[in-house]
Amino acid sequence: MILTLTLNPCIDKTIYLDQLEVGSYNRVKSTREDLAGKGLNVSIVLNNLNEDTLCKGFNFKSNGHLLDKLLNIHHVKYDFLSLEGAIRTNIKLFDQSCQVMTEVNEAGPFVPMSAVEQLLKDMENALEHTDILVMSGSIPPGVPTDIYQRLIRMANEKQVKTVLDAAGEPLFLGLLEKPYLIKPNTLEFNQAFRKEIECGMDTLEIARQVVDSGIPYLCLSMGEEGAMLIDKEHVYRARPLPLEPKGLTGAGDSMVAGMCYAIQKHFDSADMLRYAMASAGGSIRQEGTLLSRQEDIDELLPLVEIETLS
Ligand SMILES: Nc1ncnc2c1ncn2[C@@H]1O[C@H](COP(=O)(O)OP(=O)(O)OP(=O)(O)O)[C@@H](O)[C@H]1O
Ligand SMILES: [Mg+2]
Repeated sequence: MILTLTLNPCIDKTIYLDQLEVGSYNRVKSTREDLAGKGLNVSIVLNNLNEDTLCKGFNFKSNGHLLDKLLNIHHVKYDFLSLEGAIRTNIKLFDQSCQVMTEVNEAGPFVPMSAVEQLLKDMENALEHTDILVMSGSIPPGVPTDIYQRLIRMANEKQVKTVLDAAGEPLFLGLLEKPYLIKPNTLEFNQAFRKEIECGMDTLEIARQVVDSGIPYLCLSMGEEGAMLIDKEHVYRARPLPLEPKGLTGAGDSMVAGMCYAIQKHFDSADMLRYAMASAGGSIRQEGTLLSRQEDIDELLPLVEIETLS
């Protein structure tokens, strides 16, 4: 079973405007609301691939039914710890005249320490039935930044594989416990390894150092430039798929799902990258927040071109 953890779900409220006039009166043209959570996306794609998956993390009482509804639509199993308060809203103001998005994000409700402890206890039990634990995204106020680090330690003790898709301090601390796979995008990678970059090391040298330090797989996603997968013996590079992107939401999460699927099936590293690319492609070629389905991945897998760099 693949367990995904979403600690900081949000509602993305997109407001479409003809033109954004800062400091003035703006008339809304249309709006849409999407429930978002990186772990949720990973589980939805895995469920589309018929993999057994469970979503855990925090949900919030006043509007948490929206999260339940999303997962029910996709028939994904979940078991959240329900807390007081509301899921935060991220407002995205889309100026259609210049196609520019301005984002205003809420931090979200403060999570009390008692809830963090309860979650860790729950996770300890859930890990008994878990093959892969996926930790995705930011952490809400109140949750210590070493939460992923502690969970990786717990998982390692139980021989559960871990996937860390995070940024900043939670990523930095998580790396200390040697997760099984990390999937930074270029920005996250450059932030996490700023010191090494300043010392003059290039991307491949840093990636090699990470893998040699005991993290078996590093997938670097590079947006429209494709991705790389580095393991102990190989460096693979995938070119972007020839498709028209229609919705970039969940591209990285779909990649993570594709790799988890490949790990569960004991595929080799080249196939891990192939599934990552096909799964990301299947999500981005669909509008808005729609994510890869089995048929997308089956169709795109043969189109992925993988180059061996070393
Ligand atoms: N504009 C694009 N054109 C083609 N492929 C893309 C594009 N953006 C993303 N992809 C594909 O999706 C993969 C993941 O994208 P990206 O590197 O942006 O991840 P991310 O920043 O982690 O995304 P997320 O916002 O979901 O966390 C890329 O490696 C690539 O295969
Ligand atoms: Mg990402």
